[in-house]
Amino acid sequence: MRNCKLSWALVVVLLIIVALFAYKFTVGNVQPSDDGRLAVLLSKDERNTLLLEMRDWLQNTQSILAAASEKDIDTVIRIAKASGMGAEADVPGSLFRKLPVEMKALGFDTRGKFDEIAADAEKFRDGSRVIAQLSSTMKNCIACHATYRFVEETR
Ligand code: HEC
Repeated sequence: MRNCKLSWALVVVLLIIVALFAYKFTVGNVQPSDDGRLAVLLSKDERNTLLLEMRDWLQNTQSILAAASEKDIDTVIRIAKASGMGAEADVPGSLFRKLPVEMKALGFDTRGKFDEIAADAEKFRDGSRVIAQLSSTMKNCIACHATYRFVEETR
């Protein structure tokens, strides 16, 4: 009986530890920011990695627009693919754990939308369709920037 109680206590303790880990993974490494957004705390290198990725996204967005307006669909496909899920492999796991789960979902959704732009461009070869899809994709850029910032950890 005593042993049984002990193992139940152990189960409860383990469950709490698992729940804490899951919670930590879900919320990420965040704190409120005085501009009303949520600050995601990262090391200097992690922040630089993500900001570089962001600048690539901006550049690719411009390249897709330019190519679509010139009806250069092959370039649209190539650049949209480079902004899609394929690029995600570059992000290290340790950094990944610091991002809140909603942010990761928004990031994946954005990559998915770029893959969709590439797939549809291949299928329809229609520049104005690409522009409409990119415009809709950019609502994700706006939504995420309105909600989060990247702040360097002091320590
Ligand atoms: C999942 C969230 C998320 C999405 C989606 C997202 N961004 Fe960002 N981006 C951020 C955060 C957070 C920052 C840092 C903002 C800050 O600290 O004020 C940032 C910063 C940037 C910067 C500044 C880079 C620098 O060097 O300072 C650019 C440019 C940028 N994003 C472009 C884009 C574009 C273009 C898209 C859409 C194709 C996009 N982002 C989608 C989260 C996101």
